[in-house]
Amino acid sequence: MSISVLVNGAFGKMGQLTVKTISEHPNLTLAGEIGRSHDLREAIIDSKAQVVIDFTHPDAVFNNTMTIIETGARPVIGTSGLVRHQIQQLQQQCTELKRGGIIVPNFSLGAVLMMKYAQQIVKYLPHVEIIEMHHDEKADSPSGTAIRTAELLEQAHKQVNQPDKPNRETVKGARGALHHQIPIHAVRLPGFLAHQQIIFGGRGETLVLRHDSINRECFMPGVCLACEKVMTLDRLVCGLEEIL
Ligand SMILES: NC(=O)c1ccc[n+]([C@@H]2O[C@H](COP(=O)([O-])OP(=O)(O)OC[C@H]3O[C@@H](n4cnc5c(N)ncnc54)[C@H](O)[C@@H]3O)[C@@H](O)[C@H]2O)c1
Repeated sequence: MSISVLVNGAFGKMGQLTVKTISEHPNLTLAGEIGRSHDLREAIIDSKAQVVIDFTHPDAVFNNTMTIIETGARPVIGTSGLVRHQIQQLQQQCTELKRGGIIVPNFSLGAVLMMKYAQQIVKYLPHVEIIEMHHDEKADSPSGTAIRTAELLEQAHKQVNQPDKPNRETVKGARGALHHQIPIHAVRLPGFLAHQQIIFGGRGETLVLRHDSINRECFMPGVCLACEKVMTLDRLVCGLEEIL
């Protein structure tokens, strides 16, 4: 049976492509397209959507996700900007209601593989920094992918970037933002879409893992997979790797 999917943020860059992709997918049915001027709760009830995919704005994503969960649909969250305590609160709500959901910092398979292999490499080369580059309309920094990468690297190797070398910043921020002991440098420029480098340094060598999203098509197989797999979940998970 086809899964009915409501797209929130449907008139934005990711939303428009998601609407087109879902409309053409054999196992998914588009339940509706909504944006800033619609009432999310009403739209879920009226459309009877089973899944709601959110590509909106970091300022709105927490409330949207809570609304989706409370209204009885399953959230597939692509919007960036959720912080740890918010994710924990949403996970608790899903667990209590036995509701499946997924938060995906990056829907592209290449980016997920980059994170997976980075977790192997950091065990051998535990000195590491992240540079992420995005288009200049991106509302938040650093990217959800960079935050997730830092968390996964620290999970894979607790001694990452130890010993912590004292460093005087002549210009504040020069060493990036520290997240889980890992400096993250965020570049925002026209011309970029979504890119990330993970740079490992060892004695006399460096190793760079680099991922480039050339266009937004790279996110679509992951979006469809998440809409299908979320139907089998009974809790809120984080990361495409959880369902691959
Ligand atoms: N997870 C991923 O793989 C991935 C990939 C690309 C982008 N993103 C993220 O997705 C989000 C959207 O990106 P985009 O490039 O499509 O942005 P965009 O600005 O082109 O589109 C966002 C749309 O959401 C609408 N919107 C804003 N607030 C809203 C609200 N409260 N309710 C409903 N609609 C609202 C806007 O009017 C706009 O149409 C960003 O957070 C971005 O970082 C995630």
